[in-house]
Amino acid sequence: MSATPARPVVPPRTAPAPAAQPLYGAGAPAARRVTVRDLAAATARHERWPMITAYDAVTAGIFDEAGIPVLLVGDSAAMVVYGYDSTLPITVDDLLPLVRAVVRGSQRALVVADLPFGSYQASAAQALETAARFVKEGGAHAVKLEGGARVLPQVEALVSAGVPVMAHLGLTPQSVNQFGGYRVQGRGEDGARLLQDAKALEAAGAFAVVLEVVPTDLAAAVSEALTIPTIGIGAGPATDAQVIVWQDMAGLTGGRTAKFVKKYADLRTALREAAAAWADDVVSGAYPAPEHTYT
Ligand code: KIV
Repeated sequence: MSATPARPVVPPRTAPAPAAQPLYGAGAPAARRVTVRDLAAATARHERWPMITAYDAVTAGIFDEAGIPVLLVGDSAAMVVYGYDSTLPITVDDLLPLVRAVVRGSQRALVVADLPFGSYQASAAQALETAARFVKEGGAHAVKLEGGARVLPQVEALVSAGVPVMAHLGLTPQSVNQFGGYRVQGRGEDGARLLQDAKALEAAGAFAVVLEVVPTDLAAAVSEALTIPTIGIGAGPATDAQVIVWQDMAGLTGGRTAKFVKKYADLRTALREAAAAWADDVVSGAYPAPEHTYT
């Protein structure tokens, strides 16, 4: 007797759409990478979401386990990884291996690669060449670049080539020499220009815009005016998302940190004490103990 083929189960037309899963937190989907469409959908649902920097596979894996949906391999690596005093010196060749490590170390997060200073400003063609390296050689899922009206051709070229672009306005660190230091941007008349830039970047196809160290009211106005997610850092609570350099948030960075930084741990003290305890044990002979040795 031949088995009756199972009838396909067709949901009734009136069946409710499956409930959207939150981008972050309990129930967040883990089976596939987050996409720019997920970020847009979360923002449309008025969900706030976190983005954090990552520069290596181990921390990328930890942040992935924590459910953080977007990892930024920032050109801040120039300072926190390579020890420069600004983001300007880092090159594509410096950043590419870090992007590869973060992609390899994570399973769920969307990985955004920052385009270093000098690797995209010259032309749309230069931007495309650089972004293609981050996508092809690094495995990045999106790129970020700094600037407003002057980078619109770059944004359009990348988007039309299929590369999602995150924009970045306000205190864009690659322009620190023009700003004369790391100071609040967008005050007074500059605010109207920044709002215009944000709208133009959205129209050019950017999928999100970072707003760095700008007045809270301006960030709120930009967030209100745009449909794409705004991602704040030192921009107050009204943006759709927040981003932070992980070493700042975890208390690993030495010296003074910016006003907007809140420390959620004191890893600098914990790591120094662990290193000193290990070194003391080495000198005293307490380490390695029998349980750490092989027969
Ligand atoms: O490079 C970086 O880490 C950044 C964030 C601070 C937005 O651009």
